[in-house]
Amino acid sequence: MIRLCFVCLGNICRSPTAEGVMIHLIRQRGLSDRIEVDSAGTGGYHIGEPADQRSAQAARRRGVDLPSRARQFQRADFARFDYVLAMDTSNLEALKRLGGEKVHLLRDFDPASPQGSSVPDPYYGGERGFEVVLDQCFAACQGLLDHLAQQHRF
Ligand code: 4NP
Repeated sequence: MIRLCFVCLGNICRSPTAEGVMIHLIRQRGLSDRIEVDSAGTGGYHIGEPADQRSAQAARRRGVDLPSRARQFQRADFARFDYVLAMDTSNLEALKRLGGEKVHLLRDFDPASPQGSSVPDPYYGGERGFEVVLDQCFAACQGLLDHLAQQHRF
């Protein structure tokens, strides 16, 4: 089993979206028995909360469910997951400071995005930001799945 954890700041917008999109793509490709997905936040402001309504509604319009509840990323998570995927460079740095070695920037798996790209935080912006997050998550998660298929030969 390959275990993935998507990480943003609050774990209510970007990382639950990436988690939901990845679950959706994994089901489409019939890989649910090979890959397990979770998400977490580097911050603890929203622990226990479901995904932001704006994220959940935008995802639903594309046939994607966001089932996660917010939790804070723990140092012990580095041992539980094979890939820890930061949604932006600030969370990437926070994860590196926690001592992680399996940390990647999610959009680095999107062959069409420049190296070092972040998924911008949509929390304080308008509806359009949530669509951008979905577009970027779909592109990067497709790329990540292609990478995993190559690395792990499925
Ligand atoms: P996320 O968005 O990191 O994509 O879940 C945020 C949600 C809440 C806050 C910041 C970012 N906040 O400061 O409360």
